[in-house]
Amino acid sequence: MSEERSAFDWETRFAAEDTPWERPGLHPAMLAWVEAGELEPGARVIIPGCGRSPELGFLAARGLEVTGADLSATALAFQRQAVETAGHGAALLEGDVLAHRPDTPYDRVYEQTFLCAIPPRLRVDYERALCDWLRPGGHLLALFMQKDVAGGPPYGCALPAMRELFPAQRWIWPDDDSFIAWPHPSLTGKPELAGILVRR
Ligand SMILES: C[S@@+](CC[C@H](N)C(=O)[O-])C[C@H]1O[C@@H](n2cnc3c(N)ncnc32)[C@H](O)[C@@H]1O
Repeated sequence: MSEERSAFDWETRFAAEDTPWERPGLHPAMLAWVEAGELEPGARVIIPGCGRSPELGFLAARGLEVTGADLSATALAFQRQAVETAGHGAALLEGDVLAHRPDTPYDRVYEQTFLCAIPPRLRVDYERALCDWLRPGGHLLALFMQKDVAGGPPYGCALPAMRELFPAQRWIWPDDDSFIAWPHPSLTGKPELAGILVRR
């Protein structure tokens, strides 16, 4: 793990239970995507930087083929116990997910407070990884954190910057006004914009 990829000490934050980014329950945007048929049983989905978020166990229970990846051993131990206790299966990858390249591409990427967590200089690596992870026609279920103040994490993911990061040559974009804003309950209500980008 390079110094720059681990500059923020996520493991210590999990071990200290100092995790203000965690939602109290399932993300309402994910439930809306389930309702819309975006996350159907049998689909291969990866959740990069899954932390301890309950969406991983929920999607495994729903019958999706789920991969969760995180730097934090503490977070992954939590996820392992959660899925085993529930009697479901999920692949859990510990380490730098930006270096991950699957043998079989994914149908979906569920992006929840990962892009806003990594240093912005790594965003281009992430976009490249996403292109490699998703099959053509695969969907990036994106939750772009909105924050005007500089610095982070979380680092702001304004739509104009996202359109530069995810260029139209590689991604089919929805209209900007089709994004739905979901305020984060603990990060001072910062909205996350939910929208789906399709891998060309
Ligand atoms: C803000 S937290 C979000 C966790 C989870 N998605 C949630 O919504 O509760 C960011 C997560 O990304 C993980 N992370 C940061 N950089 C990473 C990297 N390069 N590879 C894998 N995981 C990483 C952290 O350990 C942390 O769990």
